[in-house]
Amino acid sequence: MLLMVDSTDLRGALAWGKDFLKKAGIDSPELTAQLLLCHLTEHDRTELLLHLEESLSEAHWREFNQLVQKRASGFPLQYLLGECGFYDVTLKVTPGVFVPRPETEILVEEVLDFLKGKEEAFVLDLGTGSGAIAIALAKNLPDSRIVATDISLEALRVARRNAVENNVDDRVFFHASDLFEVFKNEVELQNRFDAIVSNPPYIAFSEKETLPKEVRDFEPPEALFAEEEGLFFHRRIIESAPTYLKPGGLLALEVALGQAKKVMELLESESRFQEVRIREDLTGIKRVICSLRK
Ligand SMILES: C[S@@+](CC[C@H](N)C(=O)[O-])C[C@H]1O[C@@H](n2cnc3c(N)ncnc32)[C@H](O)[C@@H]1O
Repeated sequence: MLLMVDSTDLRGALAWGKDFLKKAGIDSPELTAQLLLCHLTEHDRTELLLHLEESLSEAHWREFNQLVQKRASGFPLQYLLGECGFYDVTLKVTPGVFVPRPETEILVEEVLDFLKGKEEAFVLDLGTGSGAIAIALAKNLPDSRIVATDISLEALRVARRNAVENNVDDRVFFHASDLFEVFKNEVELQNRFDAIVSNPPYIAFSEKETLPKEVRDFEPPEALFAEEEGLFFHRRIIESAPTYLKPGGLLALEVALGQAKKVMELLESESRFQEVRIREDLTGIKRVICSLRK
């Protein structure tokens, strides 16, 4: 349904979009309306704000209406824009692929810190999604090679495209796999990785109804939920990672609020790990657990 307003210049469109999104209870309505208009007009935000008197074509106006209404219904902004920023890379994201979150950048920082000065690092990213972690690591470690797995073919399709667009496709290798499954007969990969990193699905099924609508109804469930109160993947990764890590190699895992203690216990009860430590995110949540292979 096209909603009529008197003005079809950018200023009028922006005001209408902001108002509509605000009434729908969407966070940051003004910024959202600006980003959607930037997406349509191919202006950056500064240009947009400098050209508010510019008129919007009827086609753009119609499209803007649809985008605003879709966002108001809860559809994630990043899917509407088709891309998002993560660490220092830009990634395509499509419905069916998890939207990378800013807190996961801490995981990247931890791995980069650990690998500082290590030439030709060899890293495994489990559950790569859009390729966010793998691609950010490859970009920041020019001599590294990164292996990345995911069970979702749609995620791998998007991740491969992102690797090409970020010019790291010659050093990031994607595989369809249930965690380590694809490597189980690859003896040469045992004791080989300098680091294994993962932001696995970690939301307990019992928490489904507490999630924001835009996550619960629009992001792929296989990227969100895990059995065993959200720790199914952490447990499996902790069991298998020692086989593939070099002695001294790093395991870095993202966890949800309230999971850090249990994941630390899992690591401490696995005799092949030592030096378990926690890193908090900017809001003080214990977000990343790191440990070293003995
Ligand atoms: C929370 S998302 C993280 C995506 C990406 N690493 C990021 O941080 O943006 C978890 C990812 O794990 C993948 N996944 C789920 N089950 C898996 C499995 N058994 N083996 C490998 N990947 C899996 C999902 O498809 C999803 O892409």
